[in-house]
Amino acid sequence: MRIIGINYLSESSVCLLENGKIIFSLSEERLNRKKNWYGLPLKSINYILKKKNLKYSDIDYFVTSGVSAIEKSVPDHKIYNFRIQKILNSKLSSSKKKIQINFLKDRAKHEDNVINKRTKKLLYELKKKFKNLKIYDHHLSHAASAYFNSGFKECICLTIDGWGDNSSSKIIHFKNGKYKQISSSATIDSLGYFYGSITKLLGFKPHQHEGKILGLAAYGNKSIKIKEISEMIDFDTKKKVFLGNFEKGFYQSTFNNNNLKHLLKKYSKKDIACCAQQTLEKVVLKCVKSLSKNKINIALAGGVFANVKLNQKIKELKNVKNIYIFPNMGDGGLSVGGAQLLYFEKKKKPPKVIKSMYLGNRYLNNEIIAETKKHKLDLIYTNNIEKKIAELLAQGKVIAHFNNEMEFGPRSLGNRSILCSALDKNVNDWLNKKLKRTEFMPFAPVILEDKAKDYLKIKKLADYKFMTITCNCKKKMLKQAPAAVHIDNTARPQVVNRTSNLRLALILENFYKITGTPILINTSFNMHEEPIVCSPNDAIRGFIDGKLDYLVLNIFLFKKK
Ligand SMILES: [Fe+2]
Repeated sequence: MRIIGINYLSESSVCLLENGKIIFSLSEERLNRKKNWYGLPLKSINYILKKKNLKYSDIDYFVTSGVSAIEKSVPDHKIYNFRIQKILNSKLSSSKKKIQINFLKDRAKHEDNVINKRTKKLLYELKKKFKNLKIYDHHLSHAASAYFNSGFKECICLTIDGWGDNSSSKIIHFKNGKYKQISSSATIDSLGYFYGSITKLLGFKPHQHEGKILGLAAYGNKSIKIKEISEMIDFDTKKKVFLGNFEKGFYQSTFNNNNLKHLLKKYSKKDIACCAQQTLEKVVLKCVKSLSKNKINIALAGGVFANVKLNQKIKELKNVKNIYIFPNMGDGGLSVGGAQLLYFEKKKKPPKVIKSMYLGNRYLNNEIIAETKKHKLDLIYTNNIEKKIAELLAQGKVIAHFNNEMEFGPRSLGNRSILCSALDKNVNDWLNKKLKRTEFMPFAPVILEDKAKDYLKIKKLADYKFMTITCNCKKKMLKQAPAAVHIDNTARPQVVNRTSNLRLALILENFYKITGTPILINTSFNMHEEPIVCSPNDAIRGFIDGKLDYLVLNIFLFKKK
């Protein structure tokens, strides 16, 4: 059985599931080179079919999300009217009441437009193009991506994002592939919009730069309480839903929240970021704590779980036995969740767990050589490329590393990565400048699995395969890899072994032999605001533009002429 999963929302993506296994996954942004592009990912569908030598007629089912456009369940006027009544009954001034009520009225129109017009039109196009199209709920698809790849037989899935279908968050209990929804938070009670509005307030791009706010937060003063932010949103432990406090006069479910602008005059950006991060953690932890008094398995998906620090805090909760975060936690992962859910529905058996995120494009050596001939590159002959790379890294060189299949999801895990030594703390300044980036979080480390526990305070190594969670560092880490340790003494590691990524493990083993440190910096191979490189051509352009020292393309090592 073959299923194609499609996501047409932000970071539009496609996956191909064959006999229960996801064998290819690709985001359209990597092909059209437009970051977070949304729309029908037709380039990716055609690319995958061509690579796998398949026709449309070879696909048994197509699957996507957006069921509320068919059910006409958005906007939910009951919820809107209830909120408006709450605002009217509040102690807010009449002008403030008017602002909040007008916002909600406009928001309802916006939801109606997006779901009942735009989404409906897209689904109609998809239905016309693809027979056997199944449409699932947005948050159920997120939850399925987390559950089916967690390896848990039973767990609670928590999904949180900006907004998808008729919800901004769902809690769903899964057992043996079957699920039961525990609760659904309204579209307008959104933690994604809460954090995104802070991102925008601090001068960054919401829905893209939330990681910068997380990085900046560690520099803030935790004892400064900003009531306007900390009271914006809460969790109702009885109804098990998040609640945006519109009636307190500050919260709005939008990125452009004018109610917050005055905060910039009173507080520093780092203190605002710190308070927003603390609020996010407080509210989500309240939710997870309320799910059970006993220890539970928890599986997470939705864009809010790109917040690696929040994930660490959830992992540390007493009632959390095991945690899993789907590595493509944003809407890019919906294609996978939908395809796996449909497979279970049809076959009554679970799909295969995704063990590696190297699910994307792979280029042959002859394709690479053909591309490099168009550029001024010098091929350096070497019979042990891993050793040579390690030697160059030990000399302080920066290497753009492109090898085998591209990663699916927001993190580079070695196959489309920039590598360098983590010994020089200043690398965060000079390499970010070269790459034209502004970051407050240090670069992430990649570390050999059998040495990881010497440097990091971690127990279950498998939790750190995909850079989805931070951990606390030991003193040895600070001494040998200071560039990868944040000001709060945490790091966001990728733990690697010869099975998960042979090339990367061999580079690290050689680097360890030379330097005594089994750690490198691994950052995504992309230039300022561009998607991560996909093809050899993208890689060569990025390498030249970034003025990096060496470029590896599969088995070849190059430097500029
Ligand atoms: Fe989503």
